[in-house]
Amino acid sequence: MIIGIICAMDEEIKPILEEMEIEKKYMKANMQFNLGKIYKKDIVAVRCGIGKVNAAVCTQILVDDFNVDKVINVGVAGGIGDIVYPGDVVIGSSLVQHDMDASAFGDKIGQIPRLDTFDFKCDKYLIEKAQNACEQFNEVNHYVGIIATGDQFIADIHKIKWINKEFDAIACEMEGGSIAQVCYLNNIPFIVIRSISDNANIGAHMDYEKFIPIAVKNSTNIIKYMIKSA
Ligand code: ADE
Repeated sequence: MIIGIICAMDEEIKPILEEMEIEKKYMKANMQFNLGKIYKKDIVAVRCGIGKVNAAVCTQILVDDFNVDKVINVGVAGGIGDIVYPGDVVIGSSLVQHDMDASAFGDKIGQIPRLDTFDFKCDKYLIEKAQNACEQFNEVNHYVGIIATGDQFIADIHKIKWINKEFDAIACEMEGGSIAQVCYLNNIPFIVIRSISDNANIGAHMDYEKFIPIAVKNSTNIIKYMIKSA
């Protein structure tokens, strides 16, 4: 079994690579695919870059060139609503793309036209594993819920309220929904686990800078535990 791990940014992938015995490195599409082992499990870990296109290209390469059996996307996200705050963890139940809008044709916002699903469901077994992992770290609150993806860093209270109302989402980020779509198209189980770095409102970019080390530490601990118990 080969597990693909995707992070968007250096800060997110670096601590994972530090846990890995790296055996080979491949470059493709300007991305470095790191092949190796964590706790004797085969891993391909890669930093895809920010946004939906980078994430989609990366996921398809993991499927085509590295034959991954599962995909785990970890990273940071903006928390939505009155419950989810920086330092918390959100495990995706499903992913939606909040910036997809073909409403002119009568589609609900978020619906990818002519696709047979509205959202992309995370794998149930991986959700359970992620929950078990979070339970090991008492100080970390974790929630399972919908994650909304778009090519926008959200730092606007009106926009985030809209995303919450429209999609019932509890976190927003910039890659998960496209990773989920590629996995859906290829029939590969996946999960998106995000540590909250900000509340996607005014000043989100400042909270983001402050909380990113905690958020990254949480994600790394969770992924290590999940792999160990896989
Ligand atoms: N990732 C972390 N915080 C975010 C935000 N506020 N919007 C989009 N992606 C994020």
